[in-house]
Amino acid sequence: MAGLSSPSKHCRTNTKGARFARSLYRMNTAPEILPASNDPCWCGSGRKYKRCHKGTEGRIEQGVISPMRSVPANIAKPPYAETGNVPRLEEGRVKTPEVIERMRIAGDAAKEILRQAGEFVRPGITTDAIDVFVHDLTIKMGGYPSPLNYHNYPKSVCTSVNEVICHGIPDSRVLLDGDVINLDVTIFLNGVHGDTNATFAVGNISDEDAKLIRVTEECMWYGIEAVKPGVAINEIGRAIEVHAKKHKYGVVRAFIGHGIGENFHTDIQVLHYFDPRNTMILREGMTFTIEPMITASGEWRHKMWDDDWTAVTSDGSRTAQFEHTMVVTADGVDVLTAGAGAVSPSAPWRR
Ligand code: MF3
Ligand code: CO
Ligand code: CO
Repeated sequence: MAGLSSPSKHCRTNTKGARFARSLYRMNTAPEILPASNDPCWCGSGRKYKRCHKGTEGRIEQGVISPMRSVPANIAKPPYAETGNVPRLEEGRVKTPEVIERMRIAGDAAKEILRQAGEFVRPGITTDAIDVFVHDLTIKMGGYPSPLNYHNYPKSVCTSVNEVICHGIPDSRVLLDGDVINLDVTIFLNGVHGDTNATFAVGNISDEDAKLIRVTEECMWYGIEAVKPGVAINEIGRAIEVHAKKHKYGVVRAFIGHGIGENFHTDIQVLHYFDPRNTMILREGMTFTIEPMITASGEWRHKMWDDDWTAVTSDGSRTAQFEHTMVVTADGVDVLTAGAGAVSPSAPWRR
């Protein structure tokens, strides 16, 4: 796949002759000292730097996506596995104890896969290698990797690096020291899905990035602590937004938490910011995710890559995310993907 910042896409030349002449001295990688906005671009396109490479400097480039992996016949598959089309299975918002018990097992498995995948992260490996790791481990645990072929998504995990908000597709890009990466793991086990994600440091990261990751995890837990029966669902978003704003961070709007169970995504909508219209009342037995995406710059808007999956911050700002799957209990919440061994076992202030 073509890199977004390839000169042919962003720095068109006017004539074939000019392109040929310029190719003699065109550079492929940015120099150490970058031009001022109105000076000519370093790539030799003849365009102003601000109209050429400035917008893509330091951004993630698309790599090559390897062929889709298969899942052995003995693994029970969700209905979209063969076709990529997602049918809506009939399922209530409030789950029976029997379904919740199965979700607890799926949640535990998702938690374990995420922990091991996080330990696998290091500079020098490709995101495709992480996909192989998650794919194989999910199958070893007897489950199906829920992302695989979900609405035709081509891989078994989402790997979202730096300014990628979510749904990054594993490819040939190599992780660099100082990157941040979110791994979003979902397993289909015993007929139900368990969905959890966390953001990890690749090697040594900056203090700003470490703070973004810490505050994002706190945002998720403030949201989780707002959950109990009788409360309006928009209290979750309110709690998250208050904490993000305290740090002048942004809350991404386009992607939200969701009901979960026999379907990967059900109709419950969990906004991560306060919306007065989002007034559904939480009831015991409801199962859903909370998964805030927080940006360092305060930007909440996203852009989509031409793969129609990869969502990036519209200003290139770095972003982090954490996610848990939970069930509303008689007096609060039970987090099915948390507890001992989880990347985010409990609220930091309770550890
Ligand atoms: N796990 C993601 C979520 O939290 C969904 C990924 S859908 C996929 O909702 F198709 F991209 F895998
Ligand atoms: Co997820
Ligand atoms: Co989710």
